[in-house]
Amino acid sequence: TTVEWEAESYDMGGHDTYMHKEITEQVDSVDRVLRGRIDDRFSTVHLGGLNLDAREARAVRRVKILGCGTSYHAGLIGAQMIEELARIPADAEPASEFRYRNPVVDPHTLYIAVSQSGETYDALAAVQELKRKGARVLGVVNVVGSAIARETDGGVYVHAGPEVCVVSTKCFTNTVVAFALLALHLGRIRDLSVADGKRIIAGLRKLPEQIAEILRDEEHIAKLAAEYANAKSMMFIGRVRGYPAALEASLKLKEISYIHAEAYPASELKHGPLALIEPAMPTVAIVPDDDLLEKNRAALEEIKARSGRILAVAHREQEKADHTIVVPKNEDELDPILMGIPLQLLAYHTALALGRDIDKPRNLAKSVTVE
Ligand code: G6P
Repeated sequence: TTVEWEAESYDMGGHDTYMHKEITEQVDSVDRVLRGRIDDRFSTVHLGGLNLDAREARAVRRVKILGCGTSYHAGLIGAQMIEELARIPADAEPASEFRYRNPVVDPHTLYIAVSQSGETYDALAAVQELKRKGARVLGVVNVVGSAIARETDGGVYVHAGPEVCVVSTKCFTNTVVAFALLALHLGRIRDLSVADGKRIIAGLRKLPEQIAEILRDEEHIAKLAAEYANAKSMMFIGRVRGYPAALEASLKLKEISYIHAEAYPASELKHGPLALIEPAMPTVAIVPDDDLLEKNRAALEEIKARSGRILAVAHREQEKADHTIVVPKNEDELDPILMGIPLQLLAYHTALALGRDIDKPRNLAKSVTVE
């Protein structure tokens, strides 16, 4: 890459792994993605590098987000935020799938490529194909001056700082926060009210302290990880905002612990995966205190009825679960940002309990710059 990070950034700073260091850095890195961008006067945010004026932003009819791996999962959450806050139809797709299927490239669609490194070949190739067809493409990228940052028309830097561990943690969180900023910005140009803008800004400002609160629960999460580390396979479930968080948590677990994991929308359990539920296959359930709480509790009951063990990640103790990790509540739209963090710690401590090489998992590379 063209960027030189400061040497001290590569120091482990007393941590045994980069992954642990990077998880704990999230209090500061989230603060960094927010810094200098909030505009209280108009209850919006300034995104200097976007290169999309208000008239152009209003003309957007769809948003299509492309990325790979963890960046794709961040994009799935981002798409929901853009739909909810800006009321623009939005979805995310793996960049490789997109570029191999001869997609319709529409002039009223805003395309967004997501990448930590900015060098992932599949994402870069998708950007180049879109540009060739005349589309407007933005980047949500961590590494300044990287290939995707250079080849896009504008975008948002996520300012997570250098991420060394092969699996992404702080960059994932910052990317989701960057999407919240973009969704707020697009929303306030369109139909999001001042009051809702204020509400989201207040929620964003609470994130660093709430992340610190989650990190203080590490010992408890480590104990739970030790308890579940003997599982052969694990199920992750969530609904709507919780579903991409479940996908990301299951990816993290497989990447570093090598435990097989699947993620399903909670409502899809009954259409197949319920057949797998038994004591040897625990479920991690994402159960936020939002309008889907009762539905999520019903899913916990279905699992309990099949003698499944349940670890809930929730805003309060869940009686139906065997264990609960309680996460601080934010605005509903921002909850997925916080729900991901204890699950990073869960994957980390599971891998640690199993003696895995956490920073360099087998068969994986930090950035895949070949086809
Ligand atoms: C590799 C890494 C993943 C990462 C993905 C996308 O597969 O192992 O952790 O999510 O690439 O990387 P990017 O740099 O584009 O976000």
